[in-house]
Amino acid sequence: MSLPTPKANAMADNRTTMELGAVLPATATVQDTHLFIGGVDMVELAHQQGTALYVYDEEDLRERMRAYRSSFNRLHPNSEVIYASKAFLNKAMARIAAEEGMSLDVSGGGELAIARAAGFPADRVYVHGNNKTPEELEEAITAGVKCIVIDSRIELARVSQIAERHGITQDVFMRITPGVEADTHEYIRTGMEDSKFGFTMRDDFAFKCIDDVLAASHVRLAGIHMHIGSQIFALHSYREAVAVAVDFIARIKKTYDYTIDVLDVGGGVGIAYQASDQPASIEEFATLVCESVDEECAKAGIENLRILCEPGRSIAAIPGVTLYTVGILKTLPGIRKYVAVDGGMSDNIRTALYHADFEAVLANKADQPRTEVVTLCGKHCESGDAVVLDGSLQHPELGDIVCVFGTGAYCQSMSSNYNGQVRPAVVFVRDGVARVVTRRQTYADLVACDID
Ligand code: LLP
Repeated sequence: MSLPTPKANAMADNRTTMELGAVLPATATVQDTHLFIGGVDMVELAHQQGTALYVYDEEDLRERMRAYRSSFNRLHPNSEVIYASKAFLNKAMARIAAEEGMSLDVSGGGELAIARAAGFPADRVYVHGNNKTPEELEEAITAGVKCIVIDSRIELARVSQIAERHGITQDVFMRITPGVEADTHEYIRTGMEDSKFGFTMRDDFAFKCIDDVLAASHVRLAGIHMHIGSQIFALHSYREAVAVAVDFIARIKKTYDYTIDVLDVGGGVGIAYQASDQPASIEEFATLVCESVDEECAKAGIENLRILCEPGRSIAAIPGVTLYTVGILKTLPGIRKYVAVDGGMSDNIRTALYHADFEAVLANKADQPRTEVVTLCGKHCESGDAVVLDGSLQHPELGDIVCVFGTGAYCQSMSSNYNGQVRPAVVFVRDGVARVVTRRQTYADLVACDID
C-alpha cells in the first residue's frame, strides 16, 4: 500500500507551537526554543530517556477527570464517571483514576489484571466486551467487580451459572445497540444496527430478551448500557440514542413493573486532533447528555435515573504526546518530503488504520513557525507506516526531537512489537518532575515468552 496522494497544494500553516490551541496538553509552554510539558523540557527528557517515548501531562489527566465528575455531578449529583481503560492503562494511570474518584471500565481479563495489580478497588470496576471468555467472567465475578455489561444471551447464561456456582448475585447491565449511526470513522461506530456489540433493537430483539434477563438466577439487571461510537462531534447522535434507551427503560417498567436505576451512555466526547477542530467541551457534552436524559425521562414518566458515562479518549488523548528523534530525511521532488522517526505504526497505529490526523512540532525549535509540509513516516517495513501525512512542521534536521500531539489515547494501548520494535517507555510529568511509570521494553522482553 502506498500513502494517499499528497494533498493538492498542501501549504504549511506557519503556526508556532503555542498557536496549536486545543491539541496542546494543559501545561505546555515554550521556553526559549524548547517545548516544556509539566515544567519538564521535552528535549532534555528525550535525550535522557531515549525515543520513541510516551509522555503524559499528569495535571491535565487529573483535571480532565475532575471536569467530567464535576460537570456530570453538577446536573446529576448521583452520576458516575467511569474511565474507559482501553484508551490507555498502566498501573500509574489506574492509581490516578482511583485517586480522582473515577470508576473503571475494563474490556476483559487483561485490563482487569492491570487494575488489580494497581490496587484499583474491584467494586468500582465495570466489565465490557462482546466475547468475554468464561475464564474472564470467572475472574471478574470472583474479584467482586461492580457490574458486568452483558452483551449477548450466551453471556447471560454464562454469568448466571458462574455467579450461582459462587453463591453470588451479580449486578449486570444489558447493552443495547440503539440503531444510531454516529458521525465518525466506520471502524469506531458501534451503535448501528449491523454491529457485533450488544442486543440489537431490530425486530424488538433486545426487548424480547428482557424476560430471560429478569428470570436469570443470581443475576440482577441494574442498568441499560449503550455506546454509539467514539470521536463523535455531532452530539445530536447522543440525543437520539438516549431517546431510544429511555424508551426501552420505560417499556420495561410498564411491561414488567421493573425499575431500571441506571443508564450508562457509553464513551465521552470527541477531541481536537487538529488545531482547527472544534469539539464540544466536557462541560457542554455532560450538559447535553444530562438534559437529554432529563427530557426523555420527563416524557416517559421516569424518575431518578442515574447517569453513567465512560470517557476514554477525552481524558487520555490530549495530555499524552509522543517524542521521536529525526533519523532520516528524504525529499522526493514533486511528491513529498519524508521525515523518518524512530517509531511509527508500532507505537501509533491510528494513522495507518484510520488515516488519523495529528499535529506535530519540533520540540527543539518549538518557538519557530511551521514553514514546511512533510510526511512523518515511521521505521517499519510498510509503505503505509506514517504518523503524520502532509502536516506542517518546522524545518527538520537530523537529530531534531519531534513531538506528536494527541497521542495519549489508543496509541500505547494499541501498540505492537512489529519489526521487533520494543514498546516505548511511559513518563508522567508534573511540577518539573519526570517519573518513568512504564519502562521501555528491552530485547530480552522480546523473547521473554519464548521457550527453548
Ligand atoms: N465504552 C465502551 C463500551 C467503548 O467501547 C469505548 C470505546 C468507550 C467507552 C470509550 O470511548 P471514548 O470515550 O474513548 O470515545 N481505537 C479507536 C477507538 C476505539 C473505541 C472503542 N470503544 C481509535 O483509536 O480511535
